[in-house]
Amino acid sequence: MIHPDTIEQIIDRARIEEVISDFISLKKSGANYKGCCPFHNEKTPSFMVSPAKGIFKCFGCAKGGNAVSFVMEHERLSYVDALKYLAKKYNIDVVETQVSDENKQKKDVRESLQIVNNFANTYFKQKLHESNEGRAIGLSYFKERGFTDETIAKFELGYSPDGKDIFTQEALKQGYKQEFLERTGLTVSGETNSGQTYFVDRFRGRVMFPIHNLSGNIIGFGGRIVGSDPEKKLAKYLNSPESEIYNKSKTLYGIYFARTEITKKDECILVEGYTDVMSMHQSGITNVVASSGTSLTLEQIQLIKRFTNNILVIYDGDSAGIKASFRGINMILEEGLNVKVLLLPDGNDPDSFAKKHTAQELQTYIVENKTDFVTFKTRLFAEESKNDPIERAKLINDIVHSIAVIPDSITQSVYVSECSKTLQISESILFEQIHKIKNAKGGKDSALYIKQSAPVPKPVIQKSQVHATMSNELYYNEFDIIRLLLEYGEYDVFIHSVETKVKYYMYQEIVEGEMLLQNPVFSKIFDTYYTYMQQGSTDLYKHLLYHPDEEITKIVVEINSKDKKLSPLWKRKESMVETEDKKLSELLIDTIGAYKKRRLDEEAKHLNELLKEEKDITRIIEISGRLTIVKKLITSISKELHHVS
Ligand code: UTP
Ligand code: MN
Repeated sequence: MIHPDTIEQIIDRARIEEVISDFISLKKSGANYKGCCPFHNEKTPSFMVSPAKGIFKCFGCAKGGNAVSFVMEHERLSYVDALKYLAKKYNIDVVETQVSDENKQKKDVRESLQIVNNFANTYFKQKLHESNEGRAIGLSYFKERGFTDETIAKFELGYSPDGKDIFTQEALKQGYKQEFLERTGLTVSGETNSGQTYFVDRFRGRVMFPIHNLSGNIIGFGGRIVGSDPEKKLAKYLNSPESEIYNKSKTLYGIYFARTEITKKDECILVEGYTDVMSMHQSGITNVVASSGTSLTLEQIQLIKRFTNNILVIYDGDSAGIKASFRGINMILEEGLNVKVLLLPDGNDPDSFAKKHTAQELQTYIVENKTDFVTFKTRLFAEESKNDPIERAKLINDIVHSIAVIPDSITQSVYVSECSKTLQISESILFEQIHKIKNAKGGKDSALYIKQSAPVPKPVIQKSQVHATMSNELYYNEFDIIRLLLEYGEYDVFIHSVETKVKYYMYQEIVEGEMLLQNPVFSKIFDTYYTYMQQGSTDLYKHLLYHPDEEITKIVVEINSKDKKLSPLWKRKESMVETEDKKLSELLIDTIGAYKKRRLDEEAKHLNELLKEEKDITRIIEISGRLTIVKKLITSISKELHHVS
């Protein structure tokens, strides 16, 4: 097999019009090229080449493909040989590997990084406890800050000696490879003026906080300067860079130590920093994690959601970031979690507060002062906007937005009545605003969000059954979804007044909404797209166009060739997209809505058939229960569609 990097290079360099014009003569025709099709006999050219899309398509014989498949087809070469042909044409060195080796390598890389991190962790711990420098600088620092031996041991704190490359040299001496030292970020390479490569330790003279994943493996480090840096030249904390094993946005500091207690207490406490987590643990409150200074991500929220639906966010007393964090909190609310907040007295963070008080005092303070988020926000803003009517209007709007994202309507109405009192504004006005927001958004309780709104009963209909009876219409719906994804995946859209990208919205609706595509090829394309995305690939379209799986490239070419006969819905939609960007969101909602509706229609049909034959009364109740829900969803989706086809 050819190495992926080589393939990448080939795909990057190969220009379809150059490749094809080695075999047939092409004439420019607008943005494209035209010629006589080499695959069937013709006198008038119907063979089109699009440099922009990287495809060829014959409108006479319907053959189409990318540069690689053209060479394969025309020269009767295998995939690998076609790639080699192109490599030769473009002077690219071909590196070959075994497929199994590739996968093995990937796993090996992760394992190697893990091993290096484990070594580093042992090394840093040893330095902290056993070296003079570590004890004098690191250990005494931790002690001064009031951390006990037990805490230091539990969190596996360490010390990185102050020197250019002390750690790296030791690691190399013990046989750890330069490559993996660099890939964990523990070692950083540079070049001297004379072009010589040299290596330095990332962490020098810092106290070390290893970061554990859910299963307790060390995936990265945070290193703090000792004491304060009067010149403020150095970052207080240095962190490991992202790597194959460390993904910041999916990580919560302390989750390994907190997970059991989070489940037990049915609450997760969120603080800002490493030391906050440690101090809270030391005071006996162990359901605590930190987002490590960045704003909370959706993935982190979902990680918490695996253990509990209740989050308590603790803010520093003087935190300027409170308001900035509100956006993040709306995101938590939207995920259906309950959010409480706690403001510490001026100048305190959880670390300093925990140190000044006994464990008992801390616990009492938390219980007595934690406030529901919406209440908290309302009070905070009510105070500020007392005398300013414009501010007041903004505030009301803001709070109503927070309430509107909450999926549960009972919770919502509780908030409405409370806000109505605090803000002295009638409930009906608040409700009216909420409905406006929801309508504008197609809100979470609308039918487009089947995930939340369809309650309990597990699907009476099996996926395979849907598949077996897949209709033409459904095929077109799915085709349109794939087409939208490939053509507009990277576009920004406003959906339900939230800014997102087409690809993210699709993912949310199709994958998280449990409405996976039924057609095996479409679903393969869909999965491949997101796999590439998760791997950080940039040009997703190109990756799919040159995918080794011919079934995939065929569809990609089909979608991109100008032949729009396949989907009758498309013509009008395309003109909409061209007129205005904001129409894209409409198109997106419609396409997905139509697809969901079709799926539900088919389910309803199937359920009706089942009902006719079913004798067992419990089953009948179950089936008709589901049928009622399905029908309701269909009605409400229909209402939301802009142009139903
Ligand atoms: P803080 O500045 O609140 O630090 O940043 P802290 O945790 O209270 O640390 P101490 O008490 O001064 O030792 C909160 C978190 O933001 C990240 C760290 O994860 C830190 O714990 N941070 C902060 C960085 O990554 N880099 C920095 O330079 C500063
Ligand atoms: Mn602190």
